[in-house]
Amino acid sequence: MKKLSIVLLVLFSSQLLAAGGTNIELQSANINLENKASLQRGAKYFVNYCLSCHSAKQLRYSRTGKDLGISPELVELNLMFTGEKIFDGMTISMRPKDAEKWFGVNPPDLSLIARSRGADWLYTYLKSFYIDESRPFGVDNALFPKVGMPHVLSDLQGLQKAVYKDVELEDGTVKKVIARLEIAEPGRMNEKEFDKAMNDLVNFMVYMGEPAKLERQRLGWKVLMFILVMFGIFYFLKKEYWKDIH
Ligand code: HEC
Repeated sequence: MKKLSIVLLVLFSSQLLAAGGTNIELQSANINLENKASLQRGAKYFVNYCLSCHSAKQLRYSRTGKDLGISPELVELNLMFTGEKIFDGMTISMRPKDAEKWFGVNPPDLSLIARSRGADWLYTYLKSFYIDESRPFGVDNALFPKVGMPHVLSDLQGLQKAVYKDVELEDGTVKKVIARLEIAEPGRMNEKEFDKAMNDLVNFMVYMGEPAKLERQRLGWKVLMFILVMFGIFYFLKKEYWKDIH
């Protein structure tokens, strides 16, 4: 019993940690792994804006190209910048030691991030950076307070500022919490365009977590069709064989 409660505690405390410290609501991402155009745009954002710090080791360029309907030449031209081979995983050249010096923490590998955090969390996270001069990079994140990651998409989104509201706690004290985020300095995209870009990026990250999913779904349909056709054939065969016996 004691062991069980420790296991439960460990399990739930990570959940609590993930949920604690913030009160902003998750916004829902519109995930569609069949939307190749969206996945292609997402791949481009990922390679251009994320792969300098984060790796995605479990994903191979060759495989990505195939799944997303991009030819190997275009993959090399559009997605590969640092002299990798097409069968390589998406690794980075930054050394973990340097990363820790620069950011205080190591940017985690993002291969499976959509599975551990969920699409909505990622979508909200990417949209929740706001100006906070007290932080090393001048920004904080409303969903992930004291985040060690700079706002790498600020040229697209611009910079947001937090609008606060007062909430009364149970003990009667008043605490300031973030009510919403507002654009303070516009970037190259308006809000709608940025939302769409982040949706594409998250769509790609969900695909990254399970590149086999598309294939499995396709295979699933083939198997079903096969069973259906075979059922038809056997049905008529049976009728044919038993015709004279009745
Ligand atoms: C300049 C380096 C850098 C770039 C570029 C960068 N990140 Fe990060 N990222 C970090 C660091 C450092 C952390 C660790 C933050 C922490 O734990 O406080 C992080 C954390 C994260 C996390 C949270 C992981 C977790 O669950 O703990 C996600 C998700 C993430 N990054 C996604 C992205 C995406 C998507 C991009 C591209 C748009 C990106 N990052 C670009 C440095 C970077």
